[in-house]
Amino acid sequence: MKRIKSLASKGLIASIAALFAVAAGAASVQDKMSKEAIEKRIEPLAQHYVAGEESDQQADAGGTRSGEAVYNQFCAACHTSGVMGAPKINNAGDWGPRLEQGMETVLRHAIEGYNAMPPKGTCSDCSDEEIQAAIDYMTADI
Ligand code: HEC
Repeated sequence: MKRIKSLASKGLIASIAALFAVAAGAASVQDKMSKEAIEKRIEPLAQHYVAGEESDQQADAGGTRSGEAVYNQFCAACHTSGVMGAPKINNAGDWGPRLEQGMETVLRHAIEGYNAMPPKGTCSDCSDEEIQAAIDYMTADI
């Protein structure tokens, strides 16, 4: 009886070990498959971004937004009606004294933020050029 029991437990241990081996094997196959699958999935992108061409590709894909587009998306909320004293679009009275500071200062205030004016007017991924274009758009008819 004792012998049978120990045989049985040996058998059990063996089958547990076999189970682990199968599971480990399956995991590694799955790993390999998903790695291959990922490589296959990113292949078009990996081929697209050839070293050295990256910045061109990104510029093409995103493009520089026009002053009007940036204004409409980010600045209009405050600068159309003059929220919290924001200088209103194309309002000479509002913009006159500000533009007298010089465009360099005005642009710096827009980029860094100025009192209730948030940095970059909340367009955190805007380039300096895009902010400048939005300012130009807001002051074009003055
Ligand atoms: C949350 C409201 C808000 C948004 C959004 C906003 N502004 Fe303003 N902006 C203000 C306020 C308020 C002022 C006036 C700040 C002051 O003079 O105290 C201001 C002032 C300015 C000035 C004048 C700075 C100076 O030197 O007098 C510029 C330029 C400007 N904003 C550009 C922008 C641009 C460009 C955007 C969009 C990308 C934008 N703002 C988005 C509220 C906003």
